[in-house]
Amino acid sequence: MANQRTLSIIKPDAVAKNVIGEIESRFEKAGLKIVAAKMLQLSQEQAEGFYAEHKERPFFKDLVGFMTSGPVVVQVLEGDNAIAANRDLMGATNPKEAEAGTIRADYAQSIDANAVHGSDSPESAEREIAYFFEDSEICPRG
Ligand code: PPS
Repeated sequence: MANQRTLSIIKPDAVAKNVIGEIESRFEKAGLKIVAAKMLQLSQEQAEGFYAEHKERPFFKDLVGFMTSGPVVVQVLEGDNAIAANRDLMGATNPKEAEAGTIRADYAQSIDANAVHGSDSPESAEREIAYFFEDSEICPRG
């Protein structure tokens, strides 16, 4: 299996619920390693830039408003097939459709407050990691 990196965000709703540790624990138990992490209060400009591909979608303003409503944890996860592994752990975007036992089924309220983000392809992982982290801020753990 390929060793990969993916960008993960613990969103404002999950930070407010104080479940950062529970979410990190799921990543670790699944064999994903946290190789970079920081807590940030995103500015409007940062959130708009991160979600630029969704600029024309009707929910864009709500998404940016939500992502700037409180602190987030941005992090890089590393491991075998990390992109798909993280998305499996997260569950479907809409928590009502998320499989039982996934992060979104357990901690998310709605499609707009859905606890976590994860890159959806190697290309987006590369772009999203570089959006938040310098190479020197990432610590490979072997
Ligand atoms: S995809 O696969 O990227 O096209 O996913 P998509 O379902 O289109 O969602 C992209 C991100 O937008 C968020 N989203 C919403 N936010 C607010 N309101 C509504 N209605 C809404 N629908 C989708 C969704 O949580 C995705 O956020 P990320 O951070 O990428 O998971």
